[in-house]
Amino acid sequence: MPRTAVISGGGTGIGYAVAERFAAAGDRVVITGRREDVLRASAARLGEGAAYVVADLGEPEGGRRVADFLADEYGGVDIVAACAGGIERRPAPEGGDALDAVSWDWTQTLRMNVMTAVHLVEAVKPILADHGRLLLFSSIAAFMGSGNGSYGAAKAALHPYAVDLSRHLGPRGVTANVIAPGYTEATEFFGDSMTEERRAGLIDRTLNKRAGTPADVAELAFWLSEPAAGHVTAQIVQVNGGALAGR
Ligand SMILES: NC(=O)c1ccc[n+]([C@@H]2O[C@H](COP(=O)([O-])OP(=O)(O)OC[C@H]3O[C@@H](n4cnc5c(N)ncnc54)[C@H](OP(=O)(O)O)[C@@H]3O)[C@@H](O)[C@H]2O)c1
Repeated sequence: MPRTAVISGGGTGIGYAVAERFAAAGDRVVITGRREDVLRASAARLGEGAAYVVADLGEPEGGRRVADFLADEYGGVDIVAACAGGIERRPAPEGGDALDAVSWDWTQTLRMNVMTAVHLVEAVKPILADHGRLLLFSSIAAFMGSGNGSYGAAKAALHPYAVDLSRHLGPRGVTANVIAPGYTEATEFFGDSMTEERRAGLIDRTLNKRAGTPADVAELAFWLSEPAAGHVTAQIVQVNGGALAGR
C-alpha cells in the first residue's frame, strides 16, 4: 500500500534523492522548500503523483501550511524526512558589531537546521500515522565541529530531539532517527565555496576514498522507513565512508 512521505528540502540534493527513492518504491511524495521554480521542476522530474508545497519552515506558518496540505490531500502522513538545512551564507546586516554578527549567524543557522525540523515535525504530529517514521538530518559536523560553531551545534541539537520523539511516539509504533551524512556531492550545500583542494581533503578523510552521494543517504532513509526497521529508533546513523572513525 503506498505511503505518503513529506520531504523538506526535497527540491534539491539529498532531499531530492530521498524523494526519488520513495517515489521509486511507489510511495506518494510531497516535497517542500522556499523556491517554487525549483520545487515545480523537481516534482515534475519525480513524476506523476509527486506534489510540492512552497513553505519557509523557518517559521511556524510554514509547518502549518505543509500539515494542512497533507491533511487535505491525503488525510495524514506516514513518513517525514526533515532534510531542509544548510549553512547561512548571507552576511549579517550592516551596522552591527562582531557580537551582532555572531548572534545573527547562530540565530539563522539554528532556524535553518533546527527550527525547520521542529516546525515540520510538530505541525504534522496530529496527523502522523501509527507506525510512522520521522527522519531528522544531522551532519558529521555535529561530532567534529563545523569551524564556525553554529552549524555543528545546530545539527547536534537534533540528536536529543529524536530521542524525545522516540520516547513520546514509540508506544504508537512511530520511530524517530537521525541521519548524519559526511561530505556529500551533487547538492547545493557548498554553493560555489568548494575548491579542488578542500574536496580532495574531505575525500581523503574517508576510509573508502570517495565522496558520498545523495543516493547513499537516500538508501539509508528508505531502509529506516521500512517495517523491518521498526525496532530501530532514537539512533544517530552516520553515512560518511568512515570519515569520523578514520580521523
Ligand atoms: N551535502 C553535504 O555534504 C551534507 C553533509 C551533512 C549534512 N547535510 C545536510 O543534509 C541536508 C540536505 O542538504 P543538501 O546537502 O542536500 O543541500 P541543499 O541541496 O542545499 O539542500 C537544502 C535544502 O533545504 C531547503 N531549505 C533551506 N532552508 C529552508 C527553509 N527555511 N524552509 C524550507 N526549506 C529550506 C532548500 O530549499 P530552498 O532554498 O528552496 O528553501 C534546499 O532544498 C541538510 O540538512 C544539510 O545540512 C549535507
